[in-house]
Amino acid sequence: MNTPYEAPKIQTVQQHILESQRAHPTATGQFTWLLSGITLATRIISDHVRRIGLNDILGTTGDVNVQGEIVQKLDIIANETIAGCLGYRGNVGIMVSEEDDEPRILKEPDEVADYIVLFDPLDGSSNIDVNVSIGTIFSILQRRENGDHGSVMEHILQPGYKQVAAGYVVYSSSTVMVYTTGDGVHMFTLDPAIGAYRLSRENLKMPDEGKIYSVNEAYRDQFPEGIQSYLEWAKSEDAGKSLRYIGSLVADFHRTLLKGGVFLYPPTVKTPGGKLRLLYEANPLAFLAEQAGGAATDGQRRILDKTPTALHERTSLIIGSKAEVDRVLKYWHK
Ligand code: AHG
Ligand code: MN
Ligand code: MN
Repeated sequence: MNTPYEAPKIQTVQQHILESQRAHPTATGQFTWLLSGITLATRIISDHVRRIGLNDILGTTGDVNVQGEIVQKLDIIANETIAGCLGYRGNVGIMVSEEDDEPRILKEPDEVADYIVLFDPLDGSSNIDVNVSIGTIFSILQRRENGDHGSVMEHILQPGYKQVAAGYVVYSSSTVMVYTTGDGVHMFTLDPAIGAYRLSRENLKMPDEGKIYSVNEAYRDQFPEGIQSYLEWAKSEDAGKSLRYIGSLVADFHRTLLKGGVFLYPPTVKTPGGKLRLLYEANPLAFLAEQAGGAATDGQRRILDKTPTALHERTSLIIGSKAEVDRVLKYWHK
């Protein structure tokens, strides 16, 4: 007898995580539960983003955050949504957010709560009111070791190579989630009809080179000389480059991941240590870039090797196709 209907094969992010966890016999399912908290939160945020002009959530709250930046209403909605969705997961011990001055301690070190989640709840805040792509970035660490009663800061301030997972969501023409657990980079698209992220690309590789360079050229005169020479070269006809800069790191990175090229936020006179945050912007994206065959550096060293010294530490960031990152470094240190 003919089958009357064959359901299309779809793979949701939950199934994907579950399956990859099955390959690790020691996995307890705790991690899968944590990631499903993040997917739930970002689906809720995506819905807010879609309706932003309809509800009273455009504009600022009138506050300035710990970084000295103006807080948008959506920054707070995103922050509290993530905190709410992760707070009751049980296995998250500490949460660190760009919008919070201090870490939120959910569980004491002697309680069973293995994970530390660090996030930029809403990246690209200045683009919210003008309908340009924005996103959420997350990084997951494990508390250092069972029974290690180091201070909260000691548990949080681990170098990026210790991340057990990282990813982001871009709220754009479609809502896309990209994540890694150190086993390749996978991309999912939110299907609004069923409210689930569906696999769109598995084992994504960043092209070895690409013609786009991405930088805020308004700061050109403030960049180190070597970076200025790279930009001169990039503008020459021989280089055959194109410039794109969205101003939301997450969206600029997403394009770089798919098309190759390089994103630069070098030190400037105003921000000599760089502008972007190491723990919840540079580290997760560096983990993804490397897993996709790309590279990420602060100009002196690999981002993932940096040992953070403060929660909201900033860094310069050169990230993208390996060959192009190497070329930038060559100009910088000539
Ligand atoms: P956030 O909105 O989370 O504060 O991050 C803003 C960041 C980043 O998304 C972007 O790459 C960068 O700021 C843009 O900075 P400039 O406006 O200095 O180019
Ligand atoms: Mn950001
Ligand atoms: Mn932010």
